[in-house]
Amino acid sequence: MQIITTKSALQATIQECKDAGKTIGLVPTMGALHAGHASLVKQSVAENDITVVSVFVNPTQFNNKEDLAKYPRNIERDAELLKSIGAQYVFAPTPEEMYSAEEMNTTFEFDFAGLDKVMEGKMRPGHFNGVVQVVSRLFYLVRPDKAYFGEKDFQQLAIIHHMVERSSMAGTFGDLQIVDCPIVREASGLALSSRNERLSESEKETALGISKTLFASLNWAKEPGATVENVQQRVIDTINAIEGLEVEYYEIVDQTTLLPTKTFEHAIGCVTVYCGPVRLIDNIKY
Ligand code: PAF
Repeated sequence: MQIITTKSALQATIQECKDAGKTIGLVPTMGALHAGHASLVKQSVAENDITVVSVFVNPTQFNNKEDLAKYPRNIERDAELLKSIGAQYVFAPTPEEMYSAEEMNTTFEFDFAGLDKVMEGKMRPGHFNGVVQVVSRLFYLVRPDKAYFGEKDFQQLAIIHHMVERSSMAGTFGDLQIVDCPIVREASGLALSSRNERLSESEKETALGISKTLFASLNWAKEPGATVENVQQRVIDTINAIEGLEVEYYEIVDQTTLLPTKTFEHAIGCVTVYCGPVRLIDNIKY
């Protein structure tokens, strides 16, 4: 496995792979890799000749400097894991290599068709501009056949689908296929996240209340007279009643438009919860 740190070296390598007729899978990550990322990488390794994993804590998607500073980083451990599961290339640039000073300091403009106005977009203004900025740059540099993203960041995934559909009209990303990968959970139910590294053992126990409540809500939705509104409120109240947890939002929305829905059909519930100082997200499909 090779670690590449410059855009020019990456592009030269990609060209060689393309010339040799190899298919390329891309797994974009911000490092601090866990079994959830590993499942994406393994799927890419199984489905493509070459797998490129980017490890880049993207500064332009953080609207909170402290969150950026505290984001866990461990490239040596990440590289070990990626090597053991068969990735061929790791792209790990510095922010200065990835962006010019101007790009770093101006908001990347993009038409989200409203997908950025709800949930994470509402709470973290500019976050998705940064995500689209880095992901579109990675697509441009790697020109993958397939790119793999986790459903845990469901809104991000919806936005990336929208970006690719819009750009493929203009032929920008060729026949790129976005592969949606299911949430990976610990046996306890806790959704895997790099942020879990910041939880103490007792906070991890507390955080279990999030997935337990989401799973219970699948049954609440089947109770006679259940409405989206009352299930939504019951989830919020149940999580808030657990000491150490505080819901930022829980919204049951349509899986495609991300707009509030009145039925459970094609619906997904997305939650953000503070467990102490750590902001965790999770979701459940009804
Ligand atoms: O989901 C993530 O880890 C990031 O948002 C991504 C897609 C790697 C872009 O920085």
